[in-house]
Amino acid sequence: MHTFQPITVEQLDVNPFVKIGKDWALVTAGSAEKCNTMTVSWGGVGVLWGKNVAFIFIRESRYTKEFVDGGDFFSISFPSKDYREALNICGSKSGRDIDKFKEAGLTPAFRHGIPYVDEANIVLLCSKMAAVPVDESSFTDKNIMKKWYGDGDMHTMYVGEIIEVMAR
Ligand SMILES: Cc1cc2nc3c(=O)[nH]c(=O)nc-3n(C[C@H](O)[C@H](O)[C@H](O)COP(=O)(O)O)c2cc1C
Repeated sequence: MHTFQPITVEQLDVNPFVKIGKDWALVTAGSAEKCNTMTVSWGGVGVLWGKNVAFIFIRESRYTKEFVDGGDFFSISFPSKDYREALNICGSKSGRDIDKFKEAGLTPAFRHGIPYVDEANIVLLCSKMAAVPVDESSFTDKNIMKKWYGDGDMHTMYVGEIIEVMAR
């Protein structure tokens, strides 16, 4: 495996609809002492508040939320297609119950103290800018509440400045 090289966001040559929506990603947060990762397929990248940003949506019930809330950083790791089963495990099991890295055959690694998944070939290191709870009153399309939040397990949107992109 090639080593990671820092690249600029302009050098990133990925389609976010495919990379996030179809291939999926792992959001990781925490410290060397304890961190957790979970699969995400909702989110995006863009420009906001004068920064290059990534945004993700994490439901109240996720263990990973405690780590994202508890620190200033999170990462978004994009593993190759070989890791679909690992993404399934990290998207269905909770780190409250198992050591997800171990069970999924993934390796936590750290850059600037920020945890990411070493099996990725692209990693976005993000510094938290905003945590915005999604609320019923925000929806102009009232069907969204019924369709996605029937159980009341609401998302928080996290916007992070992309402080470094690493690619293999
Ligand atoms: C393909 C896929 C995409 C997912 N996307 C999200 C997401 O964007 N936001 C979210 O809160 N949960 C999402 N999940 C669910 C979490 O990954 C799942 O609940 C996970 O077990 C949470 O783990 P944790 O409790 O260790 O944080 C997704 C699951 C899968 C399989």
